[in-house]
Amino acid sequence: MTRKILVTSALPYANGAIHLGHLVEYIQTDIWVRFQKMRGHECWYVCADDTHGTPIMLRAEKEGITPEALIERVHGEHARDFAGFHVGFDNYYTTHSDETQACANEIYARLLAAGLIETRTIEQYYDPLKEMFLPDRFIKGECPKCGAPDQYGDNCESCGSAYTANELKNPYSAVSGATPVFRRSEHYFFRLSDPRCQTFLRRWTQGEGRLQNEAANKLQEWLGGDGENHLTDWDISRDAPYFGFEIPDAPGKYFYVWLDAPIGYMGAFRNLCSREGLDFDEYWQVGSATELYHFIGKDILYFHALFWPAELEHAGYRTPTKVFAHGFLTVDGAKMSKSRGTFITAESYLAQGLDPEWLRYYYAAKLSSSMEDIDLNLDDFIARVNSDMVGKFVNLASRSAGFIVKHFAGQLCTCDESLSAINAIRDRRPLIADHYEAREFSKAIREIMALIDLANQYVDSVKPWELARQPGREAELQAACTNALNLFRLFAILLKPVLPALGAKVEAFLNVAPFVWEDAGAVLAAGHAIKVYRHMMTRVDKKQVDALVAANRETLAAVPQAAPQAKPEDQVAAVAVTEPAAGAAAGPHISIDDFMRVDLRIARIKEATRVEGADKLVRLVVDIGPLGTRQVFAGIKAAYDPVTLVGRLTVMVANLAPRRMKFGLSEGMVLAASDADGQTPGIFLLSPDAGAEPGMRVK
Ligand code: 2FM
Ligand code: ZN
Repeated sequence: MTRKILVTSALPYANGAIHLGHLVEYIQTDIWVRFQKMRGHECWYVCADDTHGTPIMLRAEKEGITPEALIERVHGEHARDFAGFHVGFDNYYTTHSDETQACANEIYARLLAAGLIETRTIEQYYDPLKEMFLPDRFIKGECPKCGAPDQYGDNCESCGSAYTANELKNPYSAVSGATPVFRRSEHYFFRLSDPRCQTFLRRWTQGEGRLQNEAANKLQEWLGGDGENHLTDWDISRDAPYFGFEIPDAPGKYFYVWLDAPIGYMGAFRNLCSREGLDFDEYWQVGSATELYHFIGKDILYFHALFWPAELEHAGYRTPTKVFAHGFLTVDGAKMSKSRGTFITAESYLAQGLDPEWLRYYYAAKLSSSMEDIDLNLDDFIARVNSDMVGKFVNLASRSAGFIVKHFAGQLCTCDESLSAINAIRDRRPLIADHYEAREFSKAIREIMALIDLANQYVDSVKPWELARQPGREAELQAACTNALNLFRLFAILLKPVLPALGAKVEAFLNVAPFVWEDAGAVLAAGHAIKVYRHMMTRVDKKQVDALVAANRETLAAVPQAAPQAKPEDQVAAVAVTEPAAGAAAGPHISIDDFMRVDLRIARIKEATRVEGADKLVRLVVDIGPLGTRQVFAGIKAAYDPVTLVGRLTVMVANLAPRRMKFGLSEGMVLAASDADGQTPGIFLLSPDAGAEPGMRVK
């Protein structure tokens, strides 16, 4: 029976580059979608850029462009990166679209009519300089638990405590540096605490196979036991200035980005419907016979398994068939890191000339249906790709194709279907299909590789290269090579969801129509003519991987401002406090507001030491009075003997985002004068006049 399936991956924010962490999800989803399509199902895969919210608004401002121009540019970059990794969306759209806005307005109107929207006045931090309310991630201050300076408004990176922005000591706006004030404002809430939502979600989350076990347990925890009401209402509005959709009949109030993000799935599909002549309602109406699957990261389960189904249900739409959450990517066993060069962008991977299908294969070999993290071990990556894909799989063809073309005009003879490798493929094919269906890709790859080992044993036993040297054994040679090429073809079919580009090369070389799953049930007929074999895949060279890591390693000089490991939201905050505003780039003047963003403070140098292995750096520990002490790495070694610095006063930028360097965390920047090249006639650290005290603001 042909199934009708709609599949989505989470929408990436439109202010950051796609990196290898993102690609786990897109490659996972793409493999699954390609498998469904090869099985003959009607399967549509949609995604879009997640374009709204404060970070995107501020990022555009920083770049001196409109948010519309920013999201258009990033859309092009994202689409390019996904295509580069063969992620085959049927539609890659944007949430900033008429379709998404229409769906958002409609869902909102229906929830309002159902009595599930209410307004409430809340008190929130407001930036008086920037004249905007501040999301928690845009407020920094001292950790209320351990006192660490410059912590975000939701948790402390130093001691790990979670808290609310209101608890931070000496808070300041990460946007302007100003001290925030409390201000009241009316917000719109989706009443998730309503008994209708509770009852529905308890039933929905327990639906057969709806969520992975780990996810269902998490949901159970969030929902609480029977009779308990753990869910709280969800604040779905944000005040102007905000880049998003204005709420109907609520001037100056906008839908919070997370309200319209999943609705972007609908918007992208509606747009696809108009292009492909599909029936939107068939997929989204209550009782739809179609299937709807969302692939997501485990960090956004709350949105997809609580808010989203509750919204859909009470707005009169069908709810998701299943939500598939995956874990995070680690590289060499650790969180991706900019300083180690393991925060690798999709663009740089491709630019270094690495084959995207190496990564697709490696991820497939690691992925399962669980929410466990997966590790990209770079040495293992090289070894596995070279051994499995090149040494075992592609080698089957490269060892036999030449003989067929040279001695038999490209013609195959009858394939021996009684070979144990062919029989094993026939036996294992249904199981491999089950593994793909269940997203147990690592199991599918293990099965396929075991079959490829059998095929190689066969080729090793018949030794075509020896037969080719023995006159009179031509028939045996043709049979051996025919069998090897048929085996190769069967593996190319079984691997095509993972390796679509290689699959297309194999189709061209074997001179056959695009593979479908059923093709693996038969062999090529005697007399079938193949084309000349051209090399299909090269080995990974360790030097390429080393160059990739080096290209992604951020140094002091390269990136003076970015916070390591930041989410897109945080990156903007970190950039905003340390770089000139949009207006500054455009002309010779900056505004007083721009200047006030830089928190300049008098600092007393308490310690100054050389840094082992760094030519230019001195490690300073500075005292900035009420703001505490900071460690700063300063490029002043050429001009100062560290011992002469201890005790002197200088000026530092106190709100520069901390940056992890090879030698440790740098938590600010001391100011020094120099000429353009920073060398001649020298570097001159700034000093205040007598009487200045550590911590005084310089303005
Ligand atoms: O976490 C994120 O990156 C979000 N942009 C995902 C949105 S998924 C969906 F709900 F749109
Ligand atoms: Zn702390």
